[in-house]
Amino acid sequence: MSDLLARDLIRDVPDFPKPGILFKDITPVLEEPEAFRQVCRLLAEDARARGADVIVGIESRGFLFGVPIALDLNLPFAMARKLGKLPYDRISEEYALEYGTNTVEMHVDALQPGQKAYIVDDLLATGGTAAAASRLVKRLGGVVVGFGCLIELSFLNGRATLPDVPIKALMEF
Ligand code: PRP
Ligand code: MG
Repeated sequence: MSDLLARDLIRDVPDFPKPGILFKDITPVLEEPEAFRQVCRLLAEDARARGADVIVGIESRGFLFGVPIALDLNLPFAMARKLGKLPYDRISEEYALEYGTNTVEMHVDALQPGQKAYIVDDLLATGGTAAAASRLVKRLGGVVVGFGCLIELSFLNGRATLPDVPIKALMEF
């Protein structure tokens, strides 16, 4: 396989969003079409291999990669949005942050029962976000056939929150 062009483009930002955190910034990947396209292709190949028939993107950085993947595979794209952003009937799932909680939501008709959903985000850290998105998919009657991301922070063991889901991470830190 060819080298992963995005690897050298991930920018480390120390002390963001707070002291002691080394933030993995994917912005430079978006600025290099060849690397951006390669990342989307690799995740699209995984989604296709898993038999996905809908791509679920998690707001906001998951949208950046989920939309091109859905278009590439000619599949519907479903949004998992942060609390209060979706206009129509919706369901919600809460997840824990270091301090407090966050909520993601999906429209009740974002998925059809039995649909095979492949969830896309930029990064897997504690797994709280991915697990909440997975619970939304299941409550709508969907089946989570995979989770794809650019970056996995493996020391946080986010995989443990998705024990039944095949996880594809293009790079690990
Ligand atoms: C970041 C990242 C993932 C999530 C991973 O999103 O984009 O979605 O955190 O963390 P976890 O595995 O510990 O849940 P964030 O909510 O910071 O916002 P953004 O995508 O809107 O920038
Ligand atoms: Mg995010």
